[in-house]
Amino acid sequence: MRHQCLLLAVCGWAVFMLLFVSKFITLNLRDKEEYGTKPHILDKTVTNNLKKTKPQEQTFHTDKPAESTSNELDPHWDAVHAERLNLLKNVCQNASLRNLTYSPITKFVLDRIFVCDKHKILFCQTPKVGNTQWKKVLIVLNGEFKSIKDIPEPLIHNHERNGLPRLSSYSEPEITKRLTTYFKFFIVRDPFERLISAFKDKFLKNPRFEPWYKHNIAPAIIQKYRRNRTETKGLQFDDFIRYLGDPNHKWLDVKIGEHIIHWATYVELCAPCEIEYNIIGHHETLEKDAPYILKKAGMSNLVSYPPIPPGITAYNRTKVEQYFSRIGKREIKRLHARFQGDFKLFGYDEPEFLLN
Ligand SMILES: *[C@@H]1O[C@H](CO)[C@@H](O)[C@H](O)[C@H]1NC(C)=O
Ligand SMILES: *[C@@H]1O[C@H](CO)[C@@H](O)[C@H](O)[C@H]1NC(C)=O
Ligand SMILES: *[C@@H]1O[C@H](CO)[C@@H](O)[C@H](O)[C@H]1NC(C)=O
Ligand SMILES: *[C@@H]1O[C@H](CO)[C@@H](O)[C@H](O)[C@H]1NC(C)=O
Repeated sequence: MRHQCLLLAVCGWAVFMLLFVSKFITLNLRDKEEYGTKPHILDKTVTNNLKKTKPQEQTFHTDKPAESTSNELDPHWDAVHAERLNLLKNVCQNASLRNLTYSPITKFVLDRIFVCDKHKILFCQTPKVGNTQWKKVLIVLNGEFKSIKDIPEPLIHNHERNGLPRLSSYSEPEITKRLTTYFKFFIVRDPFERLISAFKDKFLKNPRFEPWYKHNIAPAIIQKYRRNRTETKGLQFDDFIRYLGDPNHKWLDVKIGEHIIHWATYVELCAPCEIEYNIIGHHETLEKDAPYILKKAGMSNLVSYPPIPPGITAYNRTKVEQYFSRIGKREIKRLHARFQGDFKLFGYDEPEFLLN
C-alpha cells in the first residue's frame, strides 16, 4: 500500500513537471527556406538574436505571460481583422466575381490544410509567407517534438511522420467536424510580389535544392511558353508569367502536380469563400499578425512566433516594377485577370502602375 502511494506520487510529479516544461517551449528558429538563412550558421544566428532582442519578443516569462502578450498587441488590431473578414465576405457574396472567388473544397484544398487536434487549429498552407515557421509551431504544439530545434529538417514537410496531419487524411465526418468547429487561419501577401518570390525561390536560387524545378518544371514551361527562341538560359520571368496568365494553364498544372502550390491562387489553395476562416494574416503586417493569431488561437501562453528578420515583410514596389518592366501589358493583364480574385478578396491594391 505504502509503495503504491509512493509510486503514484512520483508519477504525479513527473507528469506535472512534463506539463510544466511543455508550457514554456520557445520557438526561435529562423526560417531557412523562406528567409534564406544558411543551415549551419543557424544556431549562432539564433543565439545572437536572443542576445540582441528584448526577451519578451522570443519567450514568455513564467511569471507574467499575460503582460507580455498585451504588450505586443495593437489595440486597433481587432478592428483591422474584422474589416478584412468583412471585405472577404462581401467579395465572396458578389455574384459577378464568383468565377474568381469560388473554389470547391477538393482533395487538393484538404491537402493544404494542416491539423492541430490538440489545440483545435486548422492552418492552410500558402507558401512564401513564413509558412514553414507556422508548421514548426504547430508540429511542436501537436506534441510530436518538444521544441522546434528537435524537429529534423527533412521531417518538417513530411506529414506522414511529423505529427502534423493533413485534413485530407481524415474521414468525411471528421473533416466536416474540424472545418466547422476548429480555429482556422492562413496568411496571404501581395499576389504579384508573391509570384516574384516563388520564381526567385524555385527557379533562381532554389536554396533547398529541389532539382525538379530546374530539371523538370522549367523545361516544360519553356517548351510551351518561351517566345524568344534564341534565348538559351533557364526559365525567365516572362516565360513564367505567360504560363500563369494562360487561361488554359490547367493541363500543365496537372503535369506539374502538387508543386503548383507555389503559384496557384489563394482561392485555389484555401477555398476562402467556402471555408469560414477566423483570421487572414497578411505577410506585410506579420510582425503584428503573428502574435495576434497566436493569441486568438489560444496559443500565446504556449509559444511565440520566431523573430522575423527586419525589412523582410514590407511590400517592395520597386522590385515589382523591375520584374514586370520587361513583360508586355497584354501579358500582365492576362495574369491580373487570373489573380484578380486574390487582389479583391484580401484588399490588395490593384497594380494600376503595371496595367495602364
Ligand atoms: C461586385 O464586383 C464588381 C466588380 O468589381 C463591382 O463593380 C460591383 O460594384 C460589386 N458589387 C457589389 C454589390 O459589391
Ligand atoms: C465565368 O464562368 C462561366 C461559366 O462557368 C464561363 O462561361 C465564363 O467564361 C467565366 N468568365 C470568366 C471571366 O472567367
Ligand atoms: C532573345 O534572347 C537573346 C539571348 O539572350 C537576346 O540577346 C535577345 O535580345 C533576345 N531578344 C528579344 C527580342 O528579347
Ligand atoms: C526593393 O527592391 C529593390 C530591387 O530588387 C532593391 O534594390 C531594394 O533594396 C529593395 N528595397 C528594400 C527596402 O528592401
